[in-house]
Amino acid sequence: MKNGMIVSFEGGEGCGKSTQIKMFKEYLEKNGFDFLITREPGGTELGENIRELLLHSKGEISPETEFLLFSASRAKLVQDVIKPALANGKIVVLDRYYDSSYTYQGYAGNLSLSDLKTITEFAIKGCVPDLTILLDLSFDEGMSRKSKDENLKNLDRIEQKGRSFHEKVREGYLKLAEQDKERIFVVDASQSPYKVFETIKTEFEKRLKK
Ligand code: TYD
Repeated sequence: MKNGMIVSFEGGEGCGKSTQIKMFKEYLEKNGFDFLITREPGGTELGENIRELLLHSKGEISPETEFLLFSASRAKLVQDVIKPALANGKIVVLDRYYDSSYTYQGYAGNLSLSDLKTITEFAIKGCVPDLTILLDLSFDEGMSRKSKDENLKNLDRIEQKGRSFHEKVREGYLKLAEQDKERIFVVDASQSPYKVFETIKTEFEKRLKK
């Protein structure tokens, strides 16, 4: 069986994740890699329906409920998309994965990380990323970027949570990176998109050679 590779992208609001994934996609295309890009929550029909519930439901959703919905979407994505792609030797590029749950629902939502890890392991069936790119940016910079390209009134349910929530998300990501230096590569996302991408590309190519 051929062996693929998982590369996930993570970061807080306004960190430039979409731009970097777009640049990475162009790079993979240009260099003839066999790849697919998918996102969380979403990536399957069921997952996209769950995404709609998570981002646009009216009223409160507890962190526990949120996490289980994210996990249901994740389990479906692993079974239907990630596992088959890996078996075909593809590079799977993920726009968010379980580290988002550990930070948003764990560190910021105050759920127990050990509970989250148990359920996540059950959902992902060993599909751990080979490389996770963490785009690190302060809350203020992220929000100022976001307010430039969209009307702040259009923020989704999770984006609307306040400063302290998003600061905990950032701290959580940095703690995860500290605990798993081999997998999680931290990039200073305040640099120009071109510079950020050069750093990502160099790290990716290093991992390919391993
Ligand atoms: P999205 O519009 O994809 O945001 P972004 O462009 O920032 O990736 O919305 C996804 C939102 O869901 C985002 O605010 C992060 C949040 N999220 C969690 O809280 N937990 C999770 O496990 C995942 C995958 C996402």
